[in-house]
Order: sequence, then C-alpha cells, then structure tokens
Amino acid sequence: MSEQARELREQVRERYAQAAVRVSTGAVASCCGGGCSSEVPDLTGGLYDEGERSSLPAEAVLASLGCGNPLAVAELREGETVLDLGSGGGIDVLLSARRVGPAGKVYGLDMTEEMLALAQANAEKAGATNVDFLKGHIEAIPLPANRVDVIISNCVINLSVDKPAVFAEMFRVLKPGGRLGISDVVAEDQLTAAERAERGEYTGCIAGALSFAEYRAGLAEAGFTGIEITPTHEAAENMHSAIVRATKPEDAVVRRELPLVSSTEGGCCG
Ligand SMILES: C[S@@+](CC[C@H](N)C(=O)[O-])C[C@H]1O[C@@H](n2cnc3c(N)ncnc32)[C@H](O)[C@@H]1O
Repeated sequence: MSEQARELREQVRERYAQAAVRVSTGAVASCCGGGCSSEVPDLTGGLYDEGERSSLPAEAVLASLGCGNPLAVAELREGETVLDLGSGGGIDVLLSARRVGPAGKVYGLDMTEEMLALAQANAEKAGATNVDFLKGHIEAIPLPANRVDVIISNCVINLSVDKPAVFAEMFRVLKPGGRLGISDVVAEDQLTAAERAERGEYTGCIAGALSFAEYRAGLAEAGFTGIEITPTHEAAENMHSAIVRATKPEDAVVRRELPLVSSTEGGCCG
C-alpha cells in the first residue's frame, strides 16, 4: 500500500476513534457527511424505525454513523451467518443478531479499537450472545472463504483506500448464493473525483465515494451478479445514499482460502 493510502486510512481511523470516544463520554457522534458533532445532518435519512432504535442500548443508537439501513433490504433469516463491514458502535450487528436468532451468528469487523470496545460494551448491554467483533481491515477480512450468508455494511466502503480488494474479499468470504445488502454514498456518474472532493471530506464519507458505474463495474469484476444500486436520499449535491444489492453465484469458485494481504494487525475482540 502506498504511503499516501496508509496516511488516509490512518486519518479515517483517528476520526472514528474520536467519534467512539465522544459517544463513550456521552456526546453525540455524527461523522459521515459532517464534522463529528451533533450539528451535522444525519445521513441515515431516518431509515431506522422507532421500534428498532428504542430496543437498543442508547450508546449503540448514538454511535450510529451510517447513511442508511442495510437491514431494510438484507432479508435476514433465522440461523444465517452475517458479517457487518465497518461495524462501528454495533447498531447493525445488534439488529441483525435479533433477526438471525440464537442459531445464527453475526460478525462485526472494524479496524478502530475504540469502536470495537464501544460495540463490545453495547453487545453486553443488549445481552447479545450470538455476536463476535473482529479487529481487522475490510480489505483483508479475517475469515475463511465461503463462511457467511450475508454481508451488510453501512457507509464504510466509500472510506476504503482499496475498493477492489474489498469487493474481492466480500466475494471470497460469502458462501455461494450469498448476498450483499449495503448502504453507501454513491456519486452520479458525471462527477469527477475533484468534484466529489469539493462536496465533502474523505473521512466524512463523501470524497471517496464511487460513482454508480464504478460501483457496478467493481462488483462485476469481483464476480457478483444481480447488482442493483438504488438511491434512497441525497447525501450531497449529485451524491446519494444508496442501497447496493448483489449475489455471489451458486457455482462460484473461490481459489483463495485466506485474505491476500495478511491481517497481521488483526486479532479478535470479544
Ligand atoms: C461511518 S462509520 C459507520 C459505522 C457503522 N457501520 C454505523 O452504521 O454506525 C465507519 C466505520 O468503519 C470503520 N472503517 C473505516 N474504514 C475501515 C477499513 N478499511 N477497515 C475496517 N474498518 C473500517 C471505522 O472505524 C468506523 O467504525
């Protein structure tokens, strides 16, 4: 990885570490699309219903930094194994854990220690026993091939400095027939990289967003089929929060058992 990419990733980590600490100390954190304060717009677009929010620990809701509700489309079933990429304070992990029930399992993957600690505390408060939080990068997922039924993610892939690696890793760890239900910020195709950067910071989930065409091409290149990218609400001018769905074909063959890049900084949390 280039030095520039490494630095950018470190800026992302620092920003979300601060956001986690703010929540842990009772402040509201809102980073995607804004400046880690309570005054910035909520990019989730109010897509979690009141019943879902009120059933969770307050810190899990306060730490919600997503740009949509991936569970609205993931159609989780009892007994399934789910992976949340960039799980933050754990809101989508905890909601998924209820849906898959005790026979199911939900992994939350995040690179930021402070977020993992917050998520683990939230899981304990919620009494969730079918969840595991993993430390690592979404570009080198610390799970074996063909392990999960569904991958969800909420406003994280735009933050990655190596999106092709994320797509390849999602394909590797999904079981054949497995599916994606992702919320992310996506730019209209005519916007140049510079125009995206004018609309918001990289660490604020705007400058690093792919266009609709780039997202579709990246997923197709990794082997996904049935790709649908549906805008839900505006995140910035000509940029949208969107729901991304795709499937790993039943007959897909994955040749790599483990991540390409070793996740040596990884390990398990909880
Ligand atoms: C915008 S927050 C979203 C958190 C959570 N999905 C939610 O909806 O509240 C982004 C999260 O992704 C994590 N993250 C960003 N880039 C990552 C990467 N390359 N690998 C692992 N985690 C990453 C950050 O630490 C942070 O917790």
